[in-house]
Amino acid sequence: MSAQVTLSKVRSIAVIEVNNPPVNALGHAVRKGLWDSIEAAEADNTVKAIVVIGAGHTFPAGADIKEFGTVMQQPHLPEVIDRIENCKKPIVAALHGTALGGGFEVALGSHYRIASADARIGLPEVNLGLLPGAGGTQRMPRLCGAKLALDVMLSGKPISATKAHSAGLIDSLTEDDLRVAAIKFAEDVQEVRRSRDETKCMLNAEAYRDAVAEAKKMVSTRMRGQLAPTKILECVTAALEKPFAEGRAFERASFFECLSSKQSKGMIHAFFAERASAKVPEASRAKPRKLESLGVVGGGTMGAGITVAALDSGLPVTMIERDAESIARGRANVEKVYDRLVAKGRKTENQKSAVMALYSGSTDYNDLSNVDMVIEAVFERLDVKREVFEQLDKVMKPEAVLASNTSYIDIDLISSATSRPSQVVGLHFFSPANIMKLLEIVVPKGAADDAVATGFALAKRMRKVPVRAGNSGGFIGNRILGKYGICAAHMMEDGASPYDIDDAIFEFGYPMGIHAMYDLAGLDIGWDNRKAAAPTRDPAERYVDIADKICERGWFGQKTGRGFYRYPNGARVGTPDPEVLEIIQAERKQKGLTTKKFSKSEIIERYLAAMVNEGCEVLREGVALKPSDIDVTSIFGYGFPRHRGGPMKYADMYGLDKMLSNIQKYEQEDPVFWRPSPLLLELVKTKRNFDDLNKG
Ligand code: CAA
Ligand code: NAI
Repeated sequence: MSAQVTLSKVRSIAVIEVNNPPVNALGHAVRKGLWDSIEAAEADNTVKAIVVIGAGHTFPAGADIKEFGTVMQQPHLPEVIDRIENCKKPIVAALHGTALGGGFEVALGSHYRIASADARIGLPEVNLGLLPGAGGTQRMPRLCGAKLALDVMLSGKPISATKAHSAGLIDSLTEDDLRVAAIKFAEDVQEVRRSRDETKCMLNAEAYRDAVAEAKKMVSTRMRGQLAPTKILECVTAALEKPFAEGRAFERASFFECLSSKQSKGMIHAFFAERASAKVPEASRAKPRKLESLGVVGGGTMGAGITVAALDSGLPVTMIERDAESIARGRANVEKVYDRLVAKGRKTENQKSAVMALYSGSTDYNDLSNVDMVIEAVFERLDVKREVFEQLDKVMKPEAVLASNTSYIDIDLISSATSRPSQVVGLHFFSPANIMKLLEIVVPKGAADDAVATGFALAKRMRKVPVRAGNSGGFIGNRILGKYGICAAHMMEDGASPYDIDDAIFEFGYPMGIHAMYDLAGLDIGWDNRKAAAPTRDPAERYVDIADKICERGWFGQKTGRGFYRYPNGARVGTPDPEVLEIIQAERKQKGLTTKKFSKSEIIERYLAAMVNEGCEVLREGVALKPSDIDVTSIFGYGFPRHRGGPMKYADMYGLDKMLSNIQKYEQEDPVFWRPSPLLLELVKTKRNFDDLNKG
């Protein structure tokens, strides 16, 4: 046997237990252990039936993702599952925790399934650019039909054991000790029963095909450009149309096609990058402080969103605003979010009241004297922020953590308004703060380790993805955005329309193009920043006036009905505006520029090169600790398509030497903007890439 799988006996029942912490992943030793244990239990004449169960807090949560990309040793998972299904003695899978991916496929191959009532089951492979490759696409629809099977496989989200039970995927639920209940269940079963032989769901082929057609529509819009969802659709169709063995062979070939694609490499990278971003030196050196209450200063867009995120995580919030009218608006901003959820049926009035009971509003800073942490989200003006921090310094208890949600301002300039700068960090949320997953945790020099660790603890509590950022203008995300934004402006002046650029970006996989994004955020924000930066701008730098000219007309984007696009009658999606094209043409003419055509691929090459080159600078200066942190920031805060792994992973797969030679070509046109980062030069010279830096 193997240390990771044990075989024991309770009366006439063999109990096979998988013990491979933390998630009982189905690595080689587990697969081999399962195989050997089944063989042994089947050969043992005193065994009547078999239970497969996970030790610790979960049934296996999937294949061992770390093995992907290496040469997998036999037995492979599909063979193990076939061995389970072909066992002559009944096998009962006993599920608890998160029975995911290959783990749930083990359960589907078993003859019976019993689950703890609070277990969750799912097939999340699509999140890794893969499909369930061990029979899941063939067995699950045979048991529950195409609709639920496709929902689970395409969303990648787990469902509750209760839902799985009512869909026929689980035979029995228990609130009692799972092991005891599973053994009892196994004692009662008489015969083997194989999912592959189930045909219930095929009785209504029309409903099956309708479900596939509906899912196809969803995939073509919301998952456009992704290989795995398309393959899942094909496999589920094969489950209806082909005998099991043929469907399974098709599934296996499709799995390997996905596994060898750049998309799965990108998504597997994103999976580990997301987990690595929470591992920072400060959190390893210090424990977080007590965090049982939160103050939020400012109840506008961000203050209200942060408040909702905190309330949703069960933290009581005291919100401070300037005056009675502003705090009433602040409260209304918070309530609006919950009212929308009630209207959509996602929360009840009672649930809303229970959450709002954790909220209190005030105009008196003294009401913050007992809170454990405060987040400031007032106007983006240094004088206003310094005034707020002076007040906070007077009232907050000494062990409280003080944080600012500033987008760009140097945290040192804010914290120096207090007598305790080491207690001040940046907590940069993204809008809408209750929905966007990214939280940049800005760590100024000298920040107390436990203050930083508390920021990470807040992120965990709010289920955000935290990234540590150094204290440099725009931190990681906005600083890099600034660069590729300028690159887009250059292309626009040189001949590409904003709509050409947005089309290319959309096709690459972003949810929207950069100009549509500017319109959504409000063009006035960038205009204010550019005006503020004007006195210190390098005169040698190329400056594009087009966005300023648009703003001068009072067109600030969606909120004014016009920006780069037109939004007639409050439309949420803009239409191209010929007058904007005239503004652009006039600017080109005034500067005497000759224009050229940009193909979609050239637009993307330049856009990504600007992103990656600045990413290198951010790394070189230590603003990001590792390339994968830039990937996480871009994916969770800026809509970078996850299936491309993030800009730095994309660059590795594209080829750093090729990207550098593109940059050197652009440098001929504009040596100020396109100066290759010394880090990029060094990596190419030493034949290393960003993955090497991640490992280092
Ligand atoms: N393989 C290898 N390592 C895994 C893993 C897996 N399937 N799942 C989790 N881990 C690791 C994580 O990387 C993490 O490691 P570190 O502590 O070193 O960072 C550790 O286990 C704990 O993971 P989380 O921090 O995510 O723990 P959690 O309690 O928040 O979540 C979980 C647990 C819900 C299981 C979550 O880890 C998860 O969703 N895992 C992925 C599940 C998955 O995608 N399964 C399908 C795999 S593909 C497959 O099975 C293909 C097939 O058909 C053959
Ligand atoms: P907003 O204008 O919607 O809200 C600011 C709020 O602060 C207003 O309600 C105002 O009454 C209040 N306020 C001003 N002075 C105050 C004071 N002295 N005491 C108490 N309250 C005061 O602004 P928004 O968009 O919420 O931005 C807030 C901060 O968050 C800014 O620093 C901004 O840069 C940052 N940010 C904004 C993002 C966005 O997309 N809007 C994204 C990430 C960060």
